[in-house]
Amino acid sequence: MDGNGRWAKKRFLPRFFGHKAGVDALIRIIDACADRGIRYLTVFAFSSENWKRPADEVSGLMGLVLVAQAKYMQKMVGNGVRVVIAGDREAVSDRLRKAWNDVEEATKSNHRLTLTVAFNYGGRWDMVQACRRAVADGLKPEQIDEEALSRYMAMGHAPDPDLFIRTGGEVRISNFLLWQAAYSELLFTDCLWPDFGEAELDAALAAYAGRERRFGALNMGAAAHPA
Ligand code: FPP
Repeated sequence: MDGNGRWAKKRFLPRFFGHKAGVDALIRIIDACADRGIRYLTVFAFSSENWKRPADEVSGLMGLVLVAQAKYMQKMVGNGVRVVIAGDREAVSDRLRKAWNDVEEATKSNHRLTLTVAFNYGGRWDMVQACRRAVADGLKPEQIDEEALSRYMAMGHAPDPDLFIRTGGEVRISNFLLWQAAYSELLFTDCLWPDFGEAELDAALAAYAGRERRFGALNMGAAAHPA
């Protein structure tokens, strides 16, 4: 969800207002995805590296999440959205940790759409914590394979993403879903996250529909396999 700061700057507003508009965009996109039958939506809300931002921006983001949780939890419950938080919860405040636990608990029986909020998350962190937990569980080296490790990942509850969208014009994945995005279709758009709405989502889905996915194999069409 990149581009909140620039969205605010363009309007001569403090960056915080960009993040606030970012939450509104997120709520719209959750609804739009659910309406389109998308079963899993994963968003990068706060990276392991975002702690390097000024303290007031970091605390502003934490506060915004608490406000959003209070404001939208019942909406998620009613709309069949299951919320899962992926990330290192050790470093966040007790209040935020409790809010995460509450929203996960309140929505755990929902199945229409699983929204994963990656918060204090990094793809490398996830691989390391998965290995550590597997070792702590007593897994032997020969028991560790891709499937076993996937189960220990913070994203173990969700299938690998089909489509990976980065808004805001940067063309890099910035430590997001490093393991899970191995065969995802990548889509980079200049659209700033607060401006990303239904039209942009539909354009991204249309672009995805036009991609050919081979997962490392050859084209499986009739011409490639005449027999
Ligand atoms: C990146 O834009 C955005 C973030 C670091 C924060 C995204 C967080 C939210 C939208 C709020 C999440 C809320 C909930 C409820 C999960 P940027 O600040 O890097 O923008 P810039 O590149 O234009 O400066």
